[in-house]
Amino acid sequence: MTDDRTPIAAYWDAAAASFDDEPDHGLRAAPTRAAWAAALRSWLPAGPLDVLDVGCGTGSLSLLLAEEGHRVTGVDLAPRMVGRARAKLAAAGRAGRFLVGDAMEPPTGEARFGAVLCRHLVWTLPDPEAALRGWVARLRPGGRLVMVEGRWREAGERGVPYAAGAETLPWSGGVGAGELAAAVRPLVRGEVRVERLDGRAELWGAPVDDERYVLTADV
Ligand SMILES: C[S@@+](CC[C@H](N)C(=O)[O-])C[C@H]1O[C@@H](n2cnc3c(N)ncnc32)[C@H](O)[C@@H]1O
Repeated sequence: MTDDRTPIAAYWDAAAASFDDEPDHGLRAAPTRAAWAAALRSWLPAGPLDVLDVGCGTGSLSLLLAEEGHRVTGVDLAPRMVGRARAKLAAAGRAGRFLVGDAMEPPTGEARFGAVLCRHLVWTLPDPEAALRGWVARLRPGGRLVMVEGRWREAGERGVPYAAGAETLPWSGGVGAGELAAAVRPLVRGEVRVERLDGRAELWGAPVDDERYVLTADV
């Protein structure tokens, strides 16, 4: 890959080895892991479903989904993230399909999914609203979009882009729930639901004071 995604993929490749050291990334503590498992159960329809985990990272949420009986396809731009995700599910004896690819256009062909999940991804996409349209198009009728997103307080304070070119990302630093809901609403049938997660320290491994939420909507 030698385009404007290269520095972003390189950043995440370099981050892959230590990514799981964060409590909400590696989900190594049993209470944190249990909190995410319960949250995913409450956000997704009863399965088993075909779930597309876009920007799957090291596959921590993919593994929880597989443990719940869902059939997971994970897509990530960074090959080392994908390698870690594959290894994580293999070590746990769970099936999962992981592809190196761009969440802007997941390389999943004509496949349609019962749910599309993303966590902490849209802030680093070059055209997040186009990505949303692509994800909705990959959902079966009645399928569910589940987006765990937020706006990070510290992001604006860094002052430097996290990777070359990142200063032009439209939702750099995250996106507030109101703005994301406004972008999703025209794409879906019915209600867009938002649940705040910043009071849920058990999900993060410690109290947080920036805006975090899950948005769910059905197509
Ligand atoms: C903050 S991490 C979140 C990982 C995972 N969703 C989680 O919650 O643990 C962001 C992930 O998005 C991936 N990513 C960034 N830009 C991407 C793109 N255009 N397409 C697919 N993945 C991308 C990165 O490689 C990284 O794994």
